[in-house]
Parts: sequence; C-alpha cells; structure tokens
Amino acid sequence: MGFDRYFDKRSGRFSGFYGKEGMTRALGRGALFDRLRYAVDTAVSTGAKSVLDVGCGSGPLFEPLASKGIAVTGLEPAPSMLQLARVEAARFPDLIDVQDGSWADLDARDTYDMAVALGVFDYVETPADLLTRLGAAATSVVASFPAPGLRTEFRKVRYRMGDVAVFGYERPRILELAAAAGLRANDVRPLGRAGYAVHFVRLPSS
Ligand SMILES: C[S@@+](CC[C@H](N)C(=O)[O-])C[C@H]1O[C@@H](n2cnc3c(N)ncnc32)[C@H](O)[C@@H]1O
Repeated sequence: MGFDRYFDKRSGRFSGFYGKEGMTRALGRGALFDRLRYAVDTAVSTGAKSVLDVGCGSGPLFEPLASKGIAVTGLEPAPSMLQLARVEAARFPDLIDVQDGSWADLDARDTYDMAVALGVFDYVETPADLLTRLGAAATSVVASFPAPGLRTEFRKVRYRMGDVAVFGYERPRILELAAAAGLRANDVRPLGRAGYAVHFVRLPSS
C-alpha cells in the first residue's frame, strides 16, 4: 500500500494531533509542532513569499504561513486529507491553493521560494529523487527526517501492518542526499528522538 492510502484512512486521527498541542506533546508527538515552527521560521527568515508544501496533509502549515502573507501551494494525493486541506485553504482564498497530486510527478523549476516536505521522507523509498525535485522547485528546501532508533523501529512495526515501510536517516545520510540533489544542508536541527528538521539551499551550478 502506498502511504497516501495509509493516510487517507487515518486523516482524522492524524490531523487531530494538531488540535491540542499540550495533549500531543504529552503523547510524545511534540515534534509535529516543532517541525512546523521550524518551517515557518525558516520561511520568514529567508524572506520566502511562496511555499510549496509537498504532502501537506490537512494543511497545518497554511494558517501560520498565510497569516504572515506567504502564499502556499499544497500538494496532496490522499482524498480525505485533500478534503481537510481544502477546507483549511478556504480560510485564505487569496493565498492558499491545494492541488491533488504526488511528489513523483512534481517537475516545477524555480516556481517557489521554498519547498517543504514534513513527515514525507519517512515513507519514501527513493529519497534522492524527492529531494532533487524539491530542490528544483525552489532554491530553499525544508524537510523532516526521522532518525533511526527504537522509536523508528516501533513505527516500522506499526506501519508494516498498514503495508507501509518507514525509513530512518542518520545525519551523514542526509548530507549525502543533499549532495546528490545539488543542495547544501544549511542547518540540521535535532528534533529530540523524532529526528531532524533540515534547511537545504541549492548549490551554485558550476
Ligand atoms: C505524515 S503526513 C504529514 C502531513 C503534513 N505535512 C504534516 O506535517 O502534518 C504525510 C502526508 O504525505 C501524503 N502523501 C502520501 N503519498 C504522497 C505522495 N506520493 N506525494 C505527496 N504526498 C504524499 C500523505 O497522504 C500524508 O498526508
């Protein structure tokens, strides 16, 4: 099963984590908020005016970015997530657009100031391809990566029941992926046991 189908079945449960931050932190899922804030802070500090949010889910990035005047294009293939994202996007009709689609078909070139993928590399078998596409769409990329370890091993078991593979990334592997995609890791921010949030910038082409 692709992870779009997995999240299609669990859109309500997953988006529910964004309801009450205190409760979500108590459940050990606080990194969901930390990585959102990291993406928003990076967008603001780099002066981004347009953001591509790949695997946007229910759209938890929409409000924090739109409230700062930043336009967002959400890309999402899971129908029930897409529905939630469209409801959220309707609050900011001038700034948010949601598209039905997969990162695998993404061929944008310098269309956005920043491309974001939060909670997506976890499930992707070809991460170099995803990072390359993000780095072509924008010169600045923010993505989250789960670290290998007990937490990821537990997730592997849980997701295997849904027929979805989960991948963990060591810091050297992230740097290797960056180089393969023609990017440099400008900042690698640990997210506790949850892994890393990373800001990549495109290397000048020689
Ligand atoms: C863990 S959720 C993260 C959602 C959101 N980025 C967040 O931080 O809350 C992963 C999302 O990626 C979406 N997804 C699955 N397959 C995808 C694909 N091929 N291209 C883009 N997104 C995909 C899932 O449907 C799901 O909404």
